[in-house]
Amino acid sequence: MNTLEFKRHRRLRKTAAIRSMVRETHLHTEDFIYPIFIVEGENQKNEVPSMPGVFQISLDLLKSELDEIVALGIKAVILFGVPNESDKDECGTGAFHDHGIVQLATKEVKKHYPELLVVADTCLCEYTDHGHCGIVENGTVLNDESLELLVKTAVSQAEAGADIIAPSNMMDGFVVAIRKGLDEAGFIDIPIMSYAVKYSSAFYGPFRDAANSAPQFGDRKTYQMDPANRMEALREAESDIEEGADFLIVKPALSYMDIIRDVKNHFNAPIVAYNVSGEYAMIKAAAANGWIDERSIILEMLTSMKRAGADLIITYFAKDVAGWLQDTKQ
Ligand code: PBG
Repeated sequence: MNTLEFKRHRRLRKTAAIRSMVRETHLHTEDFIYPIFIVEGENQKNEVPSMPGVFQISLDLLKSELDEIVALGIKAVILFGVPNESDKDECGTGAFHDHGIVQLATKEVKKHYPELLVVADTCLCEYTDHGHCGIVENGTVLNDESLELLVKTAVSQAEAGADIIAPSNMMDGFVVAIRKGLDEAGFIDIPIMSYAVKYSSAFYGPFRDAANSAPQFGDRKTYQMDPANRMEALREAESDIEEGADFLIVKPALSYMDIIRDVKNHFNAPIVAYNVSGEYAMIKAAAANGWIDERSIILEMLTSMKRAGADLIITYFAKDVAGWLQDTKQ
């Protein structure tokens, strides 16, 4: 007989069955948005060195990638363009070209899989020769002038068939500008998934290899947020909601779980966590060395993001997890 007074929490952990009954957070394939890098050219499938298992794919090979994604039950992809260096210019005009790489890729997805949701990342850094996310004058990224180009990009993505517009360049007013631009072009039903809370983060390093989008001078600190700030995240999210955002993205995710929770507690919109390239690379590197159990760590990390408040997760692990979820259902 136990004479001490204490609670027996272990009662609810006794068997796998009881643990599964009291489990509070679950991963579903519908939670995931899978990023795809589309590269110019033909017959290209180039593995990104810092992101094993992630490829830059040319348009002609996109279909077989889509077959796999759809078979796994994934509902949405986010597209990033990797144009030729020679097609880049000061203003990033490739971002809103009718035959731009993302516009063509969007049409390709819609041709084969009209039900698969295409999220278009709306930014200029992959298309500018200086690698910044807007127009640069005297070393400064101009806000209002860059908005015009961003609106053009969003409208051209919508015209190509994108289902969701995800502006990521962190210019002030980008949500209201894009909302107005989409509405005027007749796209009142296309939602905006705003990168509302996007930190200036070293965790984007491998992505910039994948997308060839590193800034050629300086950094992104005058437009992306300081990792030290929390109240600022709420101000950013509040503006975007007021301006008409339908989803709020918090990015990166792993080091920003507190921010995900804050944003979830303050706003009623669906919250999206972006499990970014550096978070992916760290796990892949440690797993390749045999230092961690890759599958367990991935599942723990993504579950923690949902527990923190994410409704959806943009992740390079989407295909892996969708496969594991299919296996456990059988
Ligand atoms: C475009 C953009 C970036 C990422 C998504 N959209 C790069 C950046 O802001 O430098 C990063 C995604 C990742 O690291 O996985 N601006």
